[in-house]
Amino acid sequence: MPERILTNAELEKMVDTTDEWITSRSGISARHIAAVDQTTADMGSIAAQRALEAAQLTPEKIDLIIVATCTPDKLFPSTACLIQARLACKNAAAFDLSAACSGFIYALSVADQYIRAGNAQHILVIGSEVLSRVTDWQDRGTCVLFGDGAGAVVVSATPEPGIIATRLHAMGEHADILSLDNATLTHETCKIKMQGREVFKLAVNNFSDLISDTLIANQIKLSELNWLIPHQANMRIIESLANKLQLPLEQVIITLQEQGNTSAASIPLALDAAVRDGRIKKGQLILMAAFGGGITWGSALIRW
Ligand SMILES: CC(C)(COP(=O)(O)OP(=O)(O)OC[C@H]1O[C@@H](n2cnc3c(N)ncnc32)[C@H](O)[C@@H]1OP(=O)(O)O)[C@@H](O)C(=O)NCCC(=O)NCCS
Repeated sequence: MPERILTNAELEKMVDTTDEWITSRSGISARHIAAVDQTTADMGSIAAQRALEAAQLTPEKIDLIIVATCTPDKLFPSTACLIQARLACKNAAAFDLSAACSGFIYALSVADQYIRAGNAQHILVIGSEVLSRVTDWQDRGTCVLFGDGAGAVVVSATPEPGIIATRLHAMGEHADILSLDNATLTHETCKIKMQGREVFKLAVNNFSDLISDTLIANQIKLSELNWLIPHQANMRIIESLANKLQLPLEQVIITLQEQGNTSAASIPLALDAAVRDGRIKKGQLILMAAFGGGITWGSALIRW
């Protein structure tokens, strides 16, 4: 996460809003904002370096780097190539993947296919975003929601697959309700546009089906699940999901209060928090689920 923290109190001075409105409608109290010269590749490199350390791997062991982002440093070269150079992953292929807030789940699914096909041994999957740069700071309906950050994992070939299954979906007919036109670091006029209520409805309607379908397809009961890591967009969406599933909120990893919605970075950031504070333990069953612009949505069922 970048160092700078933007609180709801500060937002009260920027747009016509209140801390009470933001926390009651979204659950968000603060978000991190990148420094003016800090980019998606900068944050992604740090997250990837820490993932390599956690996996105890040297950079040359990485066969592929996938960066999920909707705020790449440039349209090309890909942010993945920029990170490859910084980390000296000299044996890796590298590309970016665009699926907005579902990007990390999409990237994880691609990595899983490479591993299962025997085409890679170790893959860096990174979600990194500087949404603050494409946020319209005069639009109170969006600017209170988003934040910056990066998270990363290494996916490795093992005899027992850690990624049990992934499911991906898209509804391109809803492209207009959440969009960002031609955004790169230098396109300062391009900002996120969102019909919040419509996004909210689609998320609530599709999220619980996604999770039930994932569990049924893999013959797993909800009671066997240790943790749900949902995309960190809005506390009310997460609560409604937990309610529908009848899953106690104590089993849901939630970081959005202090981070806001960091799009493709939100799930790996939440995963990182729960692994490092000891909540997630080896052998536990985790379901990750995301939705975002596209509209896209998807899940990943994982044995940690
Ligand atoms: C954006 C969101 C928080 C708005 O909450 P909501 O309960 O749907 O609020 P509405 O859009 O119905 O707006 C209600 C009122 O609050 C106002 N409002 C919007 N943003 C506001 C803010 N930051 N502060 C104060 N008032 C605000 C609206 O203008 C509206 O006023 P009106 O009734 O006078 O027109 C909610 O729709 C949401 O979270 N949607 C999903 C967004 C999301 O997750 N996007 C990312 C997907 S990956």
